[in-house]
Amino acid sequence: MIDTHAHILNEYYDDIDKVINNMKDNIIIISGTNDSDNIEVIKLCNKYKNVYGTIGIHPEEIDNMTSDSYKIIEENLSSPKIVGIGEIGLDYHYTKDNKEKQKEVFINQLNLAKKYNKPVVVHSRDAIADTYEILKKYKELKKDIHCFSGSLEMAKEFIKINCRLGIGGVLTFKNSKLSEVIKQLPIDSFLLETDSPFLTPEPFRGDKNEPYNIIYVAKKIAEIKGISLEEVLEITKNNAICQFDLDKKMC
Ligand code: NI
Repeated sequence: MIDTHAHILNEYYDDIDKVINNMKDNIIIISGTNDSDNIEVIKLCNKYKNVYGTIGIHPEEIDNMTSDSYKIIEENLSSPKIVGIGEIGLDYHYTKDNKEKQKEVFINQLNLAKKYNKPVVVHSRDAIADTYEILKKYKELKKDIHCFSGSLEMAKEFIKINCRLGIGGVLTFKNSKLSEVIKQLPIDSFLLETDSPFLTPEPFRGDKNEPYNIIYVAKKIAEIKGISLEEVLEITKNNAICQFDLDKKMC
């Protein structure tokens, strides 16, 4: 299994070794959101064989940016364990006042991704239209719309511009409308993710999330699609390998 998006950082877990060890025959792609996270992501990637990382500045972290923020990202993009830029994007949920600044930081990081030909992990909250308008100008980049929760129409538009959809615990929530959307989309466009420590799937909703819990998301997809769990795990693993260039020979 490959958890394509998780925040396995000291800030959230008392025993990171244990969390990573629970996924020892699997892969975790951990994501940074600010300078200190990004530095920790790089360290953890070097420490654990099954951990890969993406580094980037999250839209809610732009006020914490320093003159080193872009440099930290750019200088580490050639590391074989850093497999993309993320999470980056737009978030108008708490504040719309800094929309222009958010767009600027997002675009700067997309330009870096383009320069180094790296995939991106995109966060979009209450900002789907602006996110789409920007991303459609970067069709050549492989994009992961992390924690996708939009409409079927929107999903189809994103897939057309070279995006895959990050599907996590939300799919298992009892009030989620995502099942109906997922049902009508090709499984080739899905990436399994947990967004740990957040968004824990049922039956553990409310607990702290861990990468191993993507199995519950996979089970739900299998149920919705009427295929076996093994098939879901195999296809989504290949999707993740190709999305993040983990094995060029396979894609
Ligand atoms: Ni996240």
